[in-house]
Amino acid sequence: MSQEPAIVMEGITRIFGEDFKANDSIDFRVRKGTIHALVGENGAGKSTLMNILYGLLSPTYGTIRINGLEKNINSPREAISLGIGMVHQHFMLIETLTVLENIILGDESTGPFGRLDLSKAAEKVSALLKSFRISIDLNEKVENLAVGVQQKVEILKVLYRNADILILDEPTAVLTPQETDVLFDTLEELKSIGKTIILISHKLLEVLSVSDYITVLRHGKVTGNLKTSETSKEEISVLITGDEFKDSLQQEFRSAGEIVLEVKGLSVLNDKKFETVKSVSFELRAGEILGIAGVEGNGQSELIEAICGLRQMSSGSIKIDGQSIQNTTPVSLIPSDKLKFAMVKEYDITGNILLGRQNEEQFSKALAINYDRLRRFSEQLIEEYDIRPSDPDIKIGSLSGGNQQKVVAARELSKNASLIVAAHPTRGLDIKASAFVHGTLLKQKTKAVLLVSSDLNELLKLSNRIAVIYNGKITGLFETNETNEKELGMYMTGMRTMNNEL
Ligand SMILES: Nc1ncnc2c1ncn2[C@@H]1O[C@H](COP(=O)(O)OP(=O)(O)OP(=O)(O)O)[C@@H](O)[C@H]1O
Ligand SMILES: [Mg+2]
Repeated sequence: MSQEPAIVMEGITRIFGEDFKANDSIDFRVRKGTIHALVGENGAGKSTLMNILYGLLSPTYGTIRINGLEKNINSPREAISLGIGMVHQHFMLIETLTVLENIILGDESTGPFGRLDLSKAAEKVSALLKSFRISIDLNEKVENLAVGVQQKVEILKVLYRNADILILDEPTAVLTPQETDVLFDTLEELKSIGKTIILISHKLLEVLSVSDYITVLRHGKVTGNLKTSETSKEEISVLITGDEFKDSLQQEFRSAGEIVLEVKGLSVLNDKKFETVKSVSFELRAGEILGIAGVEGNGQSELIEAICGLRQMSSGSIKIDGQSIQNTTPVSLIPSDKLKFAMVKEYDITGNILLGRQNEEQFSKALAINYDRLRRFSEQLIEEYDIRPSDPDIKIGSLSGGNQQKVVAARELSKNASLIVAAHPTRGLDIKASAFVHGTLLKQKTKAVLLVSSDLNELLKLSNRIAVIYNGKITGLFETNETNEKELGMYMTGMRTMNNEL
């Protein structure tokens, strides 16, 4: 048992700017062949610590030992040569390339003179697929894959480089419950052949179910090293937040008002011209939260895009406040893929808060933008949403993932629109930030909320009614207090469907 740990990080400090310690004297040890979870609030320093281990950032102070030997890791290439692989919080695949091309991209060990031997590479990848019982079409373009599958490609990319230590930064944030189960099976399998896995996650129940050890970070420092079998959700929560935080929010009875959103016989095509929304009809009233449950890829994205005027419908109608929608109809949209649709990384927080809102009267002065007012507004939102660091001039690209999502949520929920479309609004947020967004949605008593989520707990907690979308159709519609996770799961996977389709 006196085996050297796979990883020993000692006294790791990373300073950004003058004196901001994103990591502050962190000691972090991971035993070989274990699944070790790293948890903590948004901005606690998790990604920073792992980026240091992967050679993307250098520590200001501290040392790293890999399998007992002290190493300076100055680049991901060096990390890979030490058997360390990382799957990032935001995927880094090239969408227009195939699965195989993405997996082997940048790997020089493939053939003589740096030439790629594609058939050999394909053989090696196929062997990996087989040993982990994963099935993916290697010739499919990545842009056509569901997120869960894209993530498998990221993992394969790491395994292809013979990684013994895998770092997964919030791998389940974008997955459905079913995809998460599949991922955890894969992780167990990897562990059983001796791989070491570091898992960053905000979902404590998942962490408790899959990990062997847990390290908790708070404000850049370690607040706990725990053995999973000897701890509880409550103990971890206290170490994460520093207090006995309890999320006691609950959907209460809300009286439904006027019809805000009316969707009738709506059909929508996806980019490949397949009909992915098939004659869908429903109504949503002011003061109501309607949840849309479904496994990702069953038409929810196209449905949302059509409602927000971002995608044409092929038939049917959509009315907001009794008017047919146009692309100028204001809708608050918190989209699922925040990087692609919702923010400009190079802009500062204030710039991102203005995004798409340039024409609002409150921000304009004569024909120009009223910067003073915008700045004050931005400062107010930063305080209200507890966005950290609280500097309106900081580029959003340097914020932690969760804080980026807070900026998008703050902008959209502060808009003056009668319909809020929230797609996975708490993806990547820590428990406090999630509770805050949930509370804000529940507070919108005069607005209508369409909540799309793959997290059934979230749907059951917030929605008045839940519609299940399967294969482009609404196959079930429930009052939230008359259904449960199990029943919804059966509709989501197509095992059950209503007799009279809506
Ligand atoms: N390149 C950078 N420049 C300046 N500050 C940075 C940079 N990278 C991270 N930070 C800051 O360091 C702190 C820790 O960020 P980090 O990304 O490690 O948090 P995290 O624990 O991964 O959070 P999340 O759960 O939101 O992903 C944050 O306050 C962040 O704004
Ligand atoms: Mg992070």
